[in-house]
Amino acid sequence: MKFSISAVKKPLQTKTDVLVIFVPEGRTGSGLADAQPLDELIAQLVAEGDFKAKPGSTTLLLQPQAVAARRLLLVGLAAKPELRDWKKAIQAAAGVLKTLPSRQAHLLGVNGLDTLAELVPQVFSEVFYRYDTTRTVDTDDKPALEAVHVCAVGSEAALGHARAALQQSEAVAVGVRLSRELANLPANYCTPTYLAETARRLARHHQLDCKVLGRAEMEKLGMGALLAVAQGSAQPPRFIVLEYRGAERKQAPHVLVGKGVTFDTGGISLKPGADMDEMKFDMSGAAAVLGVFEAVARLKPKINLVGLIAATENMPDGGAVKPGDVVTSLSGQTIEILNTDAEGRLILCDALTYAARYKPQSVVDIATLTGACVIALGKVNSGLFTADDTLANALLDAGRAALDPCWRLPLEAEYAEALKSNFADVANIGGRPAGAITAACFLWRFAKDYRWAHLDIAGTAWNSGANKGATGRPVPLLVRYLLSQQVH
Ligand code: BES
Ligand code: MN
Ligand code: ZN
Repeated sequence: MKFSISAVKKPLQTKTDVLVIFVPEGRTGSGLADAQPLDELIAQLVAEGDFKAKPGSTTLLLQPQAVAARRLLLVGLAAKPELRDWKKAIQAAAGVLKTLPSRQAHLLGVNGLDTLAELVPQVFSEVFYRYDTTRTVDTDDKPALEAVHVCAVGSEAALGHARAALQQSEAVAVGVRLSRELANLPANYCTPTYLAETARRLARHHQLDCKVLGRAEMEKLGMGALLAVAQGSAQPPRFIVLEYRGAERKQAPHVLVGKGVTFDTGGISLKPGADMDEMKFDMSGAAAVLGVFEAVARLKPKINLVGLIAATENMPDGGAVKPGDVVTSLSGQTIEILNTDAEGRLILCDALTYAARYKPQSVVDIATLTGACVIALGKVNSGLFTADDTLANALLDAGRAALDPCWRLPLEAEYAEALKSNFADVANIGGRPAGAITAACFLWRFAKDYRWAHLDIAGTAWNSGANKGATGRPVPLLVRYLLSQQVH
């Protein structure tokens, strides 16, 4: 889908397949100058009860006299719309446009042009996204819409800011799309090797640096925790290193670390069967890192960025790691694996140790780490854990601004007591209480040399039920965060 932005002199004269006008609640006109016939039409529709002007409601008219467009789509908006109200209204518009035979639509931003520009690419590609990589029959008709124009009344000169917002949103949309596609792919397609190939392809396409470590190289380095998870799987593990350079070499990079468990059976601590298919999404952290690189490579911000992805399956077999086994991590710390289903922290701890070699400005890991986080925060907020208040605020702000929110949970030494082991430096589980926090405390032990935050996306990375599928979160949050880290 193509997105563009332009200034129009006489919006009602625009020749287009669909003209979309947003009408705030309580207003009975278009808000446009010289729009008497249209305003009368809207007033009549409201008076007769055809158009409610309530947030998210829509009315579609074919060939109304008042406009030159073939169709007019009225979309209700909150009286004083905030960002999320705009999103709702744009979602409603996209939902209607998806069902029409129309190829192009013009969305008129009377007030809030910048907001419209910022949201339209992301919301439209979200609504129009369809997973069909492993399908052969089309279940529904392909939408006809090809081009979406955001337009404003006035001069081209006033569009600069909105145009930049549109382009940024488009880049994020492509990143989100890649992330969703990877996470939606079944685990027999999306293996650790496939993730590595995807990273290599991204690197080739956008001139990034990419390095992939196999089992032998991990052994040589001493990544005993990551290898312990991988040892029960027939699929070889991969440790992926991606590097983007947008600032001087001497500027310390930001590092993103992604959990890439391409399927989590639990291992010998086997998960129950119900909904186990959803554990193909257990590489959503890795998918987010790749999605962010896609967006960053397009936006070219003035930062340096490193992506680290620990990719493996978690399977039970005769060679699998067993409860009670003690392994030595890359940091040298020994770990008693009391539950093989707490595998995310095992692969991440070696990646976090690896991250220290970059002397990074910040490290953020992204992981579908705990069911406990889903219980605590549901599907609305990702869990945020960090001891650094500045970093916390930067991530919280980015999440709010990108409508991809996270919520800070405590990270305190007292919780780490639960991880005591009689046979190693640390145990990999801490019992049921505060399960998301004790998992974060485990990671914390390996992230002492730099500013670090952990995002638990177990609740936000995918939807279950009838709309089962990946969301692409927290790509929007992370891109915002990284853009905010540019030094001017
Ligand atoms: N990938 C899971 C976490 C998960 C579970 C995410 C359900 C989304 C939905 C993770 O590897 C896991 O199994 N965690 C265990 C940890 C426990 C054994 C301490 C969990 O949350 O049950
Ligand atoms: Mn697990
Ligand atoms: Zn897992």
